[in-house]
Amino acid sequence: MTKPFYIIGFMGTGKSSLKQYLAKSNHVIDLDELFETLTGMDIPSYFDRYGETAFRLEESRLLRNARADYVVTGGGIVEREANVDWMRAKGVIIALDLAFETCWERIKDSDRPLVRNGKAAVHALYERRRPLYARADHVLDSSLSTEAIAHILEQLKEEEG
Ligand code: S3P
Repeated sequence: MTKPFYIIGFMGTGKSSLKQYLAKSNHVIDLDELFETLTGMDIPSYFDRYGETAFRLEESRLLRNARADYVVTGGGIVEREANVDWMRAKGVIIALDLAFETCWERIKDSDRPLVRNGKAAVHALYERRRPLYARADHVLDSSLSTEAIAHILEQLKEEEG
């Protein structure tokens, strides 16, 4: 197995679509999905019951055990600097970048817990996290097609893997 590529990016940047595409021919772990499988709870219910801090702790734990060609993370993985350090040390960090309004249109009707805080709060979160995503090894324009992004990743894998 090559060194993992960690896919990071704000909610709605297209991580899930990319995951589905990559999973056709690669071993891919989706941390949110794994979290829900292991806890037997969906993330909104987990937030309601145990809070965001508990979620971040578990999420960080899962990250440290994830071995795959691609590890697709939840948007908040960058909230802990140690997670970014870990990803950089173990593999290659790929950030998906997309304009806030496009992200918002995609996520506004979803049941993501942080979306309940409303557009202004989510926008503030987007702005606050932007420099954290920018610390990735590669920042990709997520307005490109999923196929185009996957193709870039394949090339990077050949160079870096
Ligand atoms: C979160 C993003 C979500 C999920 C959780 C928290 C965040 O994942 O991990 O709701 O803090 O940005 P997606 O980025 O896949 O929506």
